[in-house]
Amino acid sequence: LWELPGTQGTLLLRHPSVRITSLTAKIDSAQHIASIFPKFKNRLDLMVTLPDVAAIAKSCEVVFLALPHTVSMELVPKLLKAGLRVIDLSADYRLADTAVYAKHYHCAHKDSANIAKGVYGLPELYRQMIKKTKLLANPGCYPTAAILSLAPLMACAAKGLEVDSVIIDAKSGVTGAGRKLAEGFLFCECNEDFKAYRVNAHQHAPEIDQEVSKLAGKKLSVTFVPHLLPVNRGILETIYVKKNHRGTKSQATSHKIHELYKKFYKTEPFVRIKDEGQFPRLRDVVGTNYCDIGIHEEAGQVIIIAAIDNLLKGASGQAVQNMNIMFGFAEQTGLC
Ligand SMILES: NC(=O)c1ccc[n+]([C@@H]2O[C@H](COP(=O)([O-])OP(=O)(O)OC[C@H]3O[C@@H](n4cnc5c(N)ncnc54)[C@H](OP(=O)(O)O)[C@@H]3O)[C@@H](O)[C@H]2O)c1
Repeated sequence: LWELPGTQGTLLLRHPSVRITSLTAKIDSAQHIASIFPKFKNRLDLMVTLPDVAAIAKSCEVVFLALPHTVSMELVPKLLKAGLRVIDLSADYRLADTAVYAKHYHCAHKDSANIAKGVYGLPELYRQMIKKTKLLANPGCYPTAAILSLAPLMACAAKGLEVDSVIIDAKSGVTGAGRKLAEGFLFCECNEDFKAYRVNAHQHAPEIDQEVSKLAGKKLSVTFVPHLLPVNRGILETIYVKKNHRGTKSQATSHKIHELYKKFYKTEPFVRIKDEGQFPRLRDVVGTNYCDIGIHEEAGQVIIIAAIDNLLKGASGQAVQNMNIMFGFAEQTGLC
């Protein structure tokens, strides 16, 4: 998860204020990291072990959990009790409502006591809370692109813009599914093909609903259709927002949408708004922590197109950005 293409490096190995002291896994445990990933030979001299909280607590200040959901929530309470800060890349602490979690992840939450302590780690929205938290819920990859795309417009919804519908047409590269072996992700199954999956039933939809509803100040529900793109990495989302002109006069219609987006993200280091008439492409963001956003407006409809690297701004890059904020390092450290 920590690879930065082109540099043969890892985000944390390159980070000037970080020393990696512990690596854990399950199937791959009890091996030297270089025997699993030879590129780390002579660069990282660590054995991979099963997670042992007492041992981790002796050598670490912060733990990144890149674990499947449900495994994270077994470890988080113990890690917090041991005084560690935790950045969890799974979905276990992203959803405030345990019933919604149970419905979409098909299991009961086992650590509801710590959910309220978790901060949703989207720096562009929650930077001040991220600074103080000990438990950071790193956002999902699809939700990162969707929420960043919708945030400026949804802030207008809170001020009177009426939104009829939000449709998210999303595409992700195959690394979005992780390294696990599964028939549907074999090369010959994905290559030269393109298909929708979990149509309006993907587990990231409630995460997007939760965050856009908070921004809009009212309950909103998006239509979310993900597709599997036959590339290694990258997410591109095309989002259609239908506005309701029967409703209150919107702030968005009196402003140029494009200017609204530029202003909203003016000081953000990792969100780039494309010039009018220009739209993002995967090639410009893969291998970076940037989210590129392009906007097109016409009568009654806004079309927003966003691209990120699912493994960087959609996962580990954003996790390092969050660590930088939590520890008071410059936010771009190790990421540019
Ligand atoms: N891939 C993405 O684009 C992406 C983006 C955002 C968020 N995420 C989230 O980040 C998390 C990790 O995703 P990933 O793509 O890196 O998945 P992955 O490639 O399947 O990696 C999961 C890791 O967890 C380890 N693991 C599993 N069960 C374990 C246990 N009981 N004890 C210790 N280690 C265990 C595995 O070790 P072994 O292989 O040795 O068993 C493996 O290293 C997931 O929750 C995912 O939803 C992924």
